[in-house]
Amino acid sequence: MPTIAPAPTTVAVLFGGRSSEHEISCVTAGGIMDVVDRSAYAVVPIGITKDGAFTLQSDDPAQWALRDGALPVVPDNGTRVAFPTSPATNELVISHPDGAVTTIAVDVVFPILHGPFGEDGTVQGLLEVAGLPYVGDGVLASALAMDKHTAKAVLEHAGLRVAPWTTVLRRQWTADPDAVADSVAVHGWPLFVKPARAGSSMGVSRVDEPAELAAAMDLAFEHDAKVIVEPRVVGREVEVAVLEGRDGVPRTSLPGEIVVAEDGFYDFASKYLGGDEALLCPAPLTDDETAAIRSVGARAFEAIGGAGLARVDCFLTDDGFVVNEVNTMPGFTPLSMYPRCWAASGVSYGELVTELIELGRVAVR
Ligand SMILES: Nc1ncnc2c1ncn2[C@@H]1O[C@H](COP(=O)(O)OP(=O)(O)O)[C@@H](O)[C@H]1O
Ligand SMILES: [Mg+2]
Repeated sequence: MPTIAPAPTTVAVLFGGRSSEHEISCVTAGGIMDVVDRSAYAVVPIGITKDGAFTLQSDDPAQWALRDGALPVVPDNGTRVAFPTSPATNELVISHPDGAVTTIAVDVVFPILHGPFGEDGTVQGLLEVAGLPYVGDGVLASALAMDKHTAKAVLEHAGLRVAPWTTVLRRQWTADPDAVADSVAVHGWPLFVKPARAGSSMGVSRVDEPAELAAAMDLAFEHDAKVIVEPRVVGREVEVAVLEGRDGVPRTSLPGEIVVAEDGFYDFASKYLGGDEALLCPAPLTDDETAAIRSVGARAFEAIGGAGLARVDCFLTDDGFVVNEVNTMPGFTPLSMYPRCWAASGVSYGELVTELIELGRVAVR
């Protein structure tokens, strides 16, 4: 008897977007389009322009690859994609430049967006309203992990170690910078000053002495009206990839390590412009250290109410792991830490994409 191939699942890949990580999101989308199992999945590529327009794009991975050092950007090709505003339909409505209007039914959405308007619960809210299944963390987990103040409070409440911190609002800084300087000095020097909700090390500074504080605060406030200040944590930067478990128990990868130049930190330039830092996976750790960070990763994932995936970034200090942050949509190009940690743990990039899509189809958040 001839076998009838099952209809492929239609996956809308949502990429680009309004954040500073637009280009890296495009590269990731290309990576996914390249490996996705086309016999099982039909891809609908939805690129969000830097202005925030939802457009229908090419699913040719080559268009989204890094070419001659140039980063891809979502072009405004005049198409517009509208999501349903109720769960009554799973059809996206596409308006074409010639005035034609078509629809595409989608089974699951894969939002591969980093930073504000993508990794912070806003797009997840849109998908909840649309009633469309989607890959990754839900509204609350995304929003709270995006906010370094809230994330630390939640992680600490769950018994995980985080660096002590002081949260400063712009109005407090503007009203009385001397009082703020006194309140953060209790942490000792050097300090790290960071916008509460940014990413890619944008607006993050190391402050070695009081005279440098004002410039660092002003820079951080360019990115957010809420800033956190914390002591420098002396330790190695070790990260673990977490994948939701089919049985509810989070799965954790072998950890990876970022080796940054002596006295430097993992800043924007070293993340994207190439620096002296190296990504090691698996990280050279003892078995006990590996087990400890895997446990921290799973507990952090549960603490935020994670779904799908997250990368839990820690410092390995002389007395154990301190959680720095949780990234709900970590870098996901084939060269990024999250897929590399899974590859080192026996899960290929293609298998990871399939697993995330399948988890997204059945996710209960
Ligand atoms: N308290 C700290 N002590 C030492 N290094 C830090 C501290 N906070 C941040 N860093 C350095 O700055 C980098 C970026 O900070 P992070 O909190 O991860 O922000 P982002 O969300 O922008 O990645 C980290 O990878 C690390 O190198
Ligand atoms: Mg970070």
